Amino acid sequence: MSSPPGADRALAHLEVEGLAAGYGAFLVLRDLSLEALPGLTVILGPNGAGKTTLLKAIAGLIPRSGRVRLDGALIDPGAKTSDLVRRGIALVAEGRQLFPQMSVAENLELGGWLVPGAVRQSRLEQAFADFPRLAERRRQLAGTMSGGEQQMLAMARAMMSGPRLLMLDEPSLGLAPKKVDEMLAIVRRIADSGTTVLMVEQNVRKALATADRGYVLERGRVVAAGTAAALAGSSLVRQAYLGKGSTPAVAPG
Ligand SMILES: Nc1ncnc2c1ncn2[C@@H]1O[C@H](COP(=O)(O)OP(=O)(O)O)[C@@H](O)[C@H]1O
Ligand SMILES: [Mg+2]
Repeated sequence: MSSPPGADRALAHLEVEGLAAGYGAFLVLRDLSLEALPGLTVILGPNGAGKTTLLKAIAGLIPRSGRVRLDGALIDPGAKTSDLVRRGIALVAEGRQLFPQMSVAENLELGGWLVPGAVRQSRLEQAFADFPRLAERRRQLAGTMSGGEQQMLAMARAMMSGPRLLMLDEPSLGLAPKKVDEMLAIVRRIADSGTTVLMVEQNVRKALATADRGYVLERGRVVAAGTAAALAGSSLVRQAYLGKGSTPAVAPG
């Protein structure tokens, strides 16, 4: 992936503490705390739990209170998107927000709008190496690509800014099972290459098989947290998300 960890590039650590956010008077998140350590952290939870709201609040797209820190340094809730990009934070939102009338290559170049031309060029080449499908289709209009290809383009475009923290909102939304696996493998590679990833994902089983750690959000609150393996084995996740009964230590009566 485009940004291998180096001596000059410490792995990013995100801390969220006492976060509250919502829409007007409607508070979705109250006093929420979590962190994303280097690696891949997944946020699970039912529709409407506040997962998208959480990513938007961290990215400063909606007002928030509480503290968000990247490597210990507070991020001002009023910071502009360009400030966040400079600090190494990127969000691939639901719906992808590509420029459908522009080519693959043009969309990627826009993702590197803040970096010097020479860096942009080398990142573009790296993006095409990491996402060969996009290289084959570099002149195709983004709006004419398949769902999976558009999602890859959105991710590759986010990587053009050289993020240290990449936030992904349901990258596998609408994809066929095989494409979901492909997408999660790419996300895993990005995390292994030194970008801290915080990902919302609905495919609970696959997400927990891919991630290092996770949180389960319900009605705006964290109801479970731990390593991916521990979550996959927890009775809450097994019953509510994996469709399995719990295995009680003592068989009932
Ligand atoms: N733009 C908005 N205006 C008002 N309410 C919203 C808006 N976006 C989401 N909500 C509400 O906030 C809650 C959490 O939504 P969301 O964060 O999108 O959940 P999730 O991503 O977990 O499905 C839901 O009750 C939803 O209806
Ligand atoms: Mg959502």
